[in-house]
Amino acid sequence: MSVEDPLTADVVVVGSGAAGLTCAIALSETLSVLVLSKAGISAGSTAWAQGGIAAVLDEGDTFEAHIEDTMIAGAGLNDRRIVEFVVEQAPAAIERLAALGVPFTPGETVSERFHLTREGGHRARRIVHVDDATGWAVQKALERAALENPRIRVMTDQVAIDIATERHAEGHGFAERRAHGLYALDRASGRVRRILARAVVLATGGASRVYRFSTNPDGSTGDGIAMAWRAGCRVSNMEFNQFHPTCLYNFQVKNFLITEAMRGEGGILRTPDGRRFMPDHDPRAELAPRDIVARAIDAEMKRAGLDFVHLDMTHLPEGFVESHFPTIVERLRALGIDPVTEPIPVVPAAHYTCGGVLVDRHGRTDLPGLYAIGEVSQSGLHGANRMASNSLLECLVFGASAADDILARFAETPPPPAIRPWDESRVTDSDEEVVVSHNWAELRRFMWNYVGIVRTDRRLERAARRVELLREEVDHYYGRFRVTPNLLELRNVVEVADLIVRSAQSRKESRGLHYTTDYPGLSDPPRDTILYPSRA
Ligand code: FAD
Ligand code: SIN
Repeated sequence: MSVEDPLTADVVVVGSGAAGLTCAIALSETLSVLVLSKAGISAGSTAWAQGGIAAVLDEGDTFEAHIEDTMIAGAGLNDRRIVEFVVEQAPAAIERLAALGVPFTPGETVSERFHLTREGGHRARRIVHVDDATGWAVQKALERAALENPRIRVMTDQVAIDIATERHAEGHGFAERRAHGLYALDRASGRVRRILARAVVLATGGASRVYRFSTNPDGSTGDGIAMAWRAGCRVSNMEFNQFHPTCLYNFQVKNFLITEAMRGEGGILRTPDGRRFMPDHDPRAELAPRDIVARAIDAEMKRAGLDFVHLDMTHLPEGFVESHFPTIVERLRALGIDPVTEPIPVVPAAHYTCGGVLVDRHGRTDLPGLYAIGEVSQSGLHGANRMASNSLLECLVFGASAADDILARFAETPPPPAIRPWDESRVTDSDEEVVVSHNWAELRRFMWNYVGIVRTDRRLERAARRVELLREEVDHYYGRFRVTPNLLELRNVVEVADLIVRSAQSRKESRGLHYTTDYPGLSDPPRDTILYPSRA
């Protein structure tokens, strides 16, 4: 099967979640945009988001309070200017979504336009939501707007492999360092093509599937982080992997999240014998920030040898749980659990990547022409621990601010030069694809066991040795065989695992989501972990 090669557009956006589609829609005012997704258009985490989006919309709430709560959760590592910028842009971002038709749950009185729920770390009710399936509604509204826009072309099943820079230009000499497009594998034909553009936006989401247990969809393999790193960009704070406290514990369904809004609306965490344990760990109890709740559950499980703990909603008034959490109730009942009459078994699972490609307030990376927005980036918003519902917000705000910057610079940006075609010399198909899936399983297991909620120097050292071995095998494979989606993802998760382990090893303290029994205290002053690629 032949594929069109090269493809061109003014801007190529990699990722069709909240960040990528927001950016594409804003760019389409004047530019042509190609949006790629490595699977379907709704394949990212956005469609799975439950709780909602944080924004100051209640008269009794203030920007200052949202800023302070974000900074407290972030344990001293947030960039205050970025936090202010995002918090102040939040109401406008919600208005844009409402204008696109997102049916936010209305307030309970005529004077309240939106119902606002609560989540951990927020001192006020400030989470707008669409029942308990906010992400799906947001994703669908953005998709509709993108798909009916003649300047936006969405291509699914296109796996971006690497950024094309001046090094890939035909006959390159001393050309300016810059992103000119990328190489992408077309799943249907198995062919790799060039996609050329004046700017490349990475909106590829996080990397939580590097862990064995995760709330994320399969594609959260950190591809954008690995691509930017290989293209010479700095990567920051990769040790801050957020474990959501309450993922359903169930043999049939491995990654179903039980939203934090359930605790926000009165849910209580108990050991299976009925003991409420959170007040023993933190005065904010069930609504302490996620790192604290996840560690408390981990400690209770280890202390008593439990496989799970319970989230109990059975004390809430009749009809409350069904009306506030209809999607979760339906899903749980289909699995034989009725949350109205029995507690829900839950465990922590990898949920969010706080670190990522280091960017400024327009999502600009170290490589001119390359932007990173949403979960793939480290913008300074989240610090050492993201507060609930600040992530979709970051996608919406940075999607717009990256688009503003691209639009403002577009006229002076040079068109891409001729880029060399993909090296087709690796024409052999691997006869051992099974090795790829074994390596995947091994990596996820040791990352969970050695680089999880509680870390030690020895565990990190063990993980580092295993990552090195896997890297050798993957490099060998990558150099010899035709690329496949699985091999590309494995190559990226090994890269990301290496970045996580190295970052964790360099932090000799316990801060936010990074907790090590070897250095249980904080060290001063707070500092970001910044990894420099060898060619930067
Ligand atoms: P995503 O939505 O993950 O999209 C990534 C896109 O990149 C996809 O289209 C994918 O196909 C594409 N892609 C990736 N790699 C490649 C590649 N190599 N080539 C081509 N395409 C590629 N946050 C909140 O603020 N509120 C919530 O209530 C909330 N609930 C959540 C519930 C769950 C279960 C999960 C998993 C997350 C939740 N989060 C929540 C976090 C939030 O959903 C994500 O951080 C956010 O949606 C990320 O959006 P994104 O646009 O950056 O990436
Ligand atoms: C949830 O609904 O608990 C997830 C919210 C988030 O990750 O921000």
